[in-house]
Amino acid sequence: MRILVTDGMDKGAQAKLAEMGHEVVNQFFEPDELGKALRDFDVVIIRSKTKIRKQQIDEAKGSKLKTIIRAGVGVDNIDVAYAEENGIAVKNTPRASSQSVAELAMAHMFSCARSISAAGQTMREGKWEKKTYSAGFELCGKTLGIIGFGRIGQKLCAMAKGVGMDVIAYDVYHVPGIEQQLGMRYAELEDLLKEADILSLHTPAIDGKPLVREETIAKMKDGVVIINTSRGGNVCEEDLLKALDSGKVRAAGLDVFAEEPAQNAALYTHPHVSSTPHIGAGTNEAQARIGAELVEIISKL
Ligand code: MLT
Repeated sequence: MRILVTDGMDKGAQAKLAEMGHEVVNQFFEPDELGKALRDFDVVIIRSKTKIRKQQIDEAKGSKLKTIIRAGVGVDNIDVAYAEENGIAVKNTPRASSQSVAELAMAHMFSCARSISAAGQTMREGKWEKKTYSAGFELCGKTLGIIGFGRIGQKLCAMAKGVGMDVIAYDVYHVPGIEQQLGMRYAELEDLLKEADILSLHTPAIDGKPLVREETIAKMKDGVVIINTSRGGNVCEEDLLKALDSGKVRAAGLDVFAEEPAQNAALYTHPHVSSTPHIGAGTNEAQARIGAELVEIISKL
């Protein structure tokens, strides 16, 4: 098969695909050129930079392109229903990056608790602001509210329990026996918003109102910390910024943004924001596991 890789992929997995007799081409295409280019490939593998929408599908449909694979969890950068209606299957690698994303959420929690991101910046500027950054807080004993209790949420829970946090989670689906197994409890969303000292989001972005917005922030504890390693669309950035400025939200750890690359500089450079450029799955381990999942998917096509 001819396989197009637009946003990079683990080199070992690419070598494996070549060994299996496939031709792998690494090339990024601008949105207006992508659809036509796809006609020459059986499979396209994308990460988050490439978007495959109606325009690209219209240009590629009826060609040899049969499969779009998202090397990651979310398929929100693909018009899945339209692709499938036009005979193009959409697949993803939902398991491979959970540990890495959960670890980044944990890292942002520590960063918010001790202002690691902001304090580190002042050190780079040659300053020694020990007094300013000596009013941190411990994670131990705090209540973590996890919204979306799938693979990533569960891994985050296990780590948070390890540092002595209490964990509550909201999800429409309740995994039988997991409360006893992980020592956490499920809660209604309203209760979780009221009880959590730190809130971490692990759901896909849903159309309509973002989960974190003025109205939901108002229900949260004063001084709450918000971590988002899921999708930028889950947070209204303007409302979060206002809440950070007023102190209602003490700090936020953000890996994902409404637009990427992030556009809202007032938010991502805010002194109480720990920000990273969508690197949740950006570890060698996750990329190797994603590569192995991609090889498995392609071997079954
Ligand atoms: C995912 O959905 O797995 C991530 O957002 C992957 C990424 O693009 O880095």
